[in-house]
Amino acid sequence: MASLDKVATQSFAAGAPVARCAAPGRVNLIGEHTDYSGGLVMPAAIDFHTVATIRSRNDARIVLYSQNLAEEVAYPADPLPVTARKHWSDYPMGVAWSLAQEGVRVGGFELSLAGDVPLGAGLSSSASIEVATALALLALAGAEMPLATIALACQRAENAFVGARSGIMDQFIACAGQQDHALLLDCRSLEYRLLPIPPHVRLVICNSMVKHEHAGGQYNARREEVEEGTRILHRHRPSILTLRDAREADLVECRQQMPDNVFRRCRHIVTENKRVEIAAAALERGDLLAFGAQMAEAHRSIRDDFAASCSELDTLVAIAVRLPGCYGARMTGGGFGGCTVNLVEESKAEQFRQAIHEEYRTTTGIDADIYLCRASAGATCLT
Ligand code: GLA
Repeated sequence: MASLDKVATQSFAAGAPVARCAAPGRVNLIGEHTDYSGGLVMPAAIDFHTVATIRSRNDARIVLYSQNLAEEVAYPADPLPVTARKHWSDYPMGVAWSLAQEGVRVGGFELSLAGDVPLGAGLSSSASIEVATALALLALAGAEMPLATIALACQRAENAFVGARSGIMDQFIACAGQQDHALLLDCRSLEYRLLPIPPHVRLVICNSMVKHEHAGGQYNARREEVEEGTRILHRHRPSILTLRDAREADLVECRQQMPDNVFRRCRHIVTENKRVEIAAAALERGDLLAFGAQMAEAHRSIRDDFAASCSELDTLVAIAVRLPGCYGARMTGGGFGGCTVNLVEESKAEQFRQAIHEEYRTTTGIDADIYLCRASAGATCLT
């Protein structure tokens, strides 16, 4: 199990760092691909982090160092670059660019990044880099910002600079996560409610080891299908601005006017919002079986209607739901690879881990990484 202490951080050759800030990855319990159409999501922060260590320079240069890749790159601080290079440094540079638009300008700085959030696994390594960088830059500037503004600035970095059209969920939970709680977030109003996760269950995350790639890939293609559906619904009923405003009945009325794939993508989202509400009520009354039933439905929907699962994720879910102590299992995150999330009775979690590892290897020949997690706190500055 990863922990913040295990993420080594670079100490600079000369001069003390001004700040060391950490932001977590996340797992989404339910509410997938709903965030960018104003919907409901239920993520939890997990105990994997990116740590950003920063200090200022007086030569108007930005020097970025990735400890994981042992690679350094430099950029001018004035003017800041305005385009991405398809490189890991796009994430911190995108955040510097985005914060500058909020009036946060820091001049030259040195930023060192280290992390243990699995990459390309659907656990939001990118949002953890963005939020850790944002907190570090704010500390250097001596500036403060509300959590939601930080999350939105990081989302803008990813959308407009990096070029991945992600929603607000990942950046928001990286900022606002709370230990032992999931967060029910309304992505239309950005209002949220914390939902305690019962202490006797673990969030078991199974990495299919199939890597996904968001920037410019299938994720953006799904968003376009969703936007096409929204436009058709809006013509039918002008009060529908996002899918959050649509009911299943609206969709059915418009079915003939949209291609079948667009209809099914939208049906996933409209029904998923309902599932999140039912699941939240179930969690609040401690009914994990009812919660698990919504997870099962959610997986079927994202697999069959949204077509964002893959055979390895389906295999992991099929194995999990037969194992003792498992209340529910589904793919989590953007999909097309990455991880499943499983709600498992704590006393059975280790047995679950071993069984799923063995059966998945027998079926697919792949050695899955499996993490036994609890919900963790959101981003924070350590120094
Ligand atoms: C990715 C995106 C999020 C969200 C999920 C799917 O993680 O970054 O904004 O859309 O996919 O729920």
